Amino acid sequence: MRKTLIKNIGLLQTPAGSHPHRGREQGDNLKLKDAAVLCEDGLIKEITSGGALPGEVEKYSSGDGCPDEGYTVIDAGGKLVTPGLVDGHTHLVFGGYRHNEIPLKLKGADYLEILKAGGGILQTLTRTREGSFEELYEKSMGFLDEMLFLGVTTCEAKSGYGLSWEAEKKQLQIVKKLNEDHPVDLVSTFMGAHMVPPEYKEDPDAYVDLLCREMLPAVKETGLAEFADVFCEEGVFDVEQSRKYLEEAKKLGFGLKIHADEIEEMGGSQLAGELGAVSAEHLIAIGEKGLMSLAKGGTTAMVLPATSFYLGKGFAPVRRMIEMDIPVAMGSDFNPGSCPSLNLQFVMNLGYLKYRMTPEEILTAVTINPACAIGRGDTVGTLEPGKKADLVIWDAPDMDMLCYRFGSNLALEIIKEGELM
Ligand code: NIG
Ligand code: FE
Repeated sequence: MRKTLIKNIGLLQTPAGSHPHRGREQGDNLKLKDAAVLCEDGLIKEITSGGALPGEVEKYSSGDGCPDEGYTVIDAGGKLVTPGLVDGHTHLVFGGYRHNEIPLKLKGADYLEILKAGGGILQTLTRTREGSFEELYEKSMGFLDEMLFLGVTTCEAKSGYGLSWEAEKKQLQIVKKLNEDHPVDLVSTFMGAHMVPPEYKEDPDAYVDLLCREMLPAVKETGLAEFADVFCEEGVFDVEQSRKYLEEAKKLGFGLKIHADEIEEMGGSQLAGELGAVSAEHLIAIGEKGLMSLAKGGTTAMVLPATSFYLGKGFAPVRRMIEMDIPVAMGSDFNPGSCPSLNLQFVMNLGYLKYRMTPEEILTAVTINPACAIGRGDTVGTLEPGKKADLVIWDAPDMDMLCYRFGSNLALEIIKEGELM
């Protein structure tokens, strides 16, 4: 039996429960002073506060608060401890980079113009199709190391840079292998509807047919993804095409996600609520009807402020979402085009300054809410007995400090399933 005791925690802060937190509850965090956490075989066994130690530790302790044997003891040095962060939206596996687009951006070309001119996702498509399994695997492994070091212990990964069954399958199989090999837990989303590939440029509906008739069933059969996502956007997939794809995905039993109202308000959020999607993502341009539909459908708003920052666009109306009882999650959107950063700590800073969320709401938005949006609310996202012992010891006394300091890595120690990384 592997046992780990994390003691001398100045402040343990966590949301509670395994459900999406909305409205007032978004800002409800449990705060325990002078806490300790006992982990057994990778799970949390007991949490204590007020200077007390877990019962069994007290029993076997030699007097200095350290159990005699069979335990790994980690001293948190009086610092803040939270659940490991959950990044609920990434495009983790991709070939090449897109730094060559920056001069175009600076001359005023916007994201959709670059895409229309054959750059953007299409550039990454070529590089991802050319990349070997090993090359893309190694590159993504490096990104996961970086994420873990920044405090992320669970992460979603979308395909969508292959856009043919062979190339999509390669991306999904890389995610599967990374999940087996790397400490960060991965959840896979099929995003064959990220873009119309060049072969179908003249007949986008034929590509939607291919997705529905062949690719979605093939993903289902191989079990390579739990969720299906579509980029519903001007010049990409319209609402009707998105509906067709998502309805098929729903029939097959996938959880639904939509890149909605990222740049233009297209009606993607309305569709998300209507179909009972688990999450609608981006939402920079969401309007009142979209907000009402998310609230009615119980859909989580997965907002991505680092993308707003990088594209120089507005920020999603998060205060309004919280007011309307829509659960809010924040992700990195890590990808080579619209957000080449995987730093969820920076996302938290932006949540504070740009969305005007409270530190408590922010913690919920990077732990339990994204965990629920990727089907892992039962096992991660909060610190409570029975859940995975995924924790971060921060070089900060409280969440206020963590949300305020930016540009540094404040994650001091990462504990994944009870093991110090
Ligand atoms: O979430 N919006 C669509 N997909 C990504 C960007 C992909 C890319 O530009 O390579 C996003 O922003
Ligand atoms: Fe995205």
